[in-house]
Amino acid sequence: MLLGVNIDHVATLRNARGGVEPDVLRAAQICIDNGGDSITTHLREDRRHIKDEDVKNIRRDIKTKLNLEMAMTEEMQNIALTVLPDAVCLVPEKRQELTTEGGLDIAGQLDKGIKFVKPLIDKGIEVSLFIDPDEKQIKAAHKTGAQFIELHTGTYSNAFGSEFEEQAFNDLKHATEFAHSLGLQVNAGHGLDYKNVHRMHEIEGLHELNIGHSIIARAVFVGLPQAVREMKELVK
Ligand code: PXP
Repeated sequence: MLLGVNIDHVATLRNARGGVEPDVLRAAQICIDNGGDSITTHLREDRRHIKDEDVKNIRRDIKTKLNLEMAMTEEMQNIALTVLPDAVCLVPEKRQELTTEGGLDIAGQLDKGIKFVKPLIDKGIEVSLFIDPDEKQIKAAHKTGAQFIELHTGTYSNAFGSEFEEQAFNDLKHATEFAHSLGLQVNAGHGLDYKNVHRMHEIEGLHELNIGHSIIARAVFVGLPQAVREMKELVK
C-alpha cells in the first residue's frame, strides 16, 4: 500500500501566525524524502489552511504525485484545470465543519458529477471520489467515469477498539471488494493513525492511504521525518 501524506495541518500551524513558518513546501519535501508516496492538500473554499500559492508551489517543486482534494465547485475545477495536479479527490465541503464529515453524496448528484469529472479526466488528471462505504455511492462513482474512490474511514477510526469496530471494518472490506468488481481502484483515509491503520492490510488491494492529522500531530513530538517514516513502516 502507498502512503499519501496530507500536509494541510502544517498550513494550519503556519496560518496561526500569518507568517511563513512552518514552510509548507519544505514539509512536502520532507514527507517525500522520508517515504511519502504522494502529497495531498485540501484547498478549502475558505482557504483555512492550504492556500492557492501552496498548491502552485508544490506542483512546481515537488517531483512526485500531487493529490488535490477539493469540492465540486466551478472555482475548484478551474484551479485544477490550471494547476494540473496528478490526481484530484472530490470531497463534500461544509463551511462550518472542523474536518470532512461523511462522504460525498455522488448518487444524489450524478449528472453534475459526470459533467464535473470529464474535463478533469480529459486533461489526464486521475479522479477519485471520497465516499462512504455504501454500494449506492460506489455504483454512482463508477458511473461518473472516475478511476478511483477513496473510502471514508472515519466511522472505522471512531469505532476502533469498541464493539462497533468489526461492523465498520467489514463495511470497508465489502465496499472495497464491490468497487474492485466494478473496475474501480480504491484508496482510503480519514482518522487513520498509528494504532488503527494496521487493519487496512486485511483489505486486499487497497491502493493508497491518505493520512494527515495523526502524522502532523506526531511530528510535534518526534519530528516530521520520523513521524512519516514510522507511518510508512506501518503502511507499506
Ligand atoms: N482523505 C480525505 C478525502 C480527507 O478529506 C482527509 C482530511 O482532510 C483525509 C483523507 C485525511 O484525514 P486525517 O487528517 O484524519 O488523516
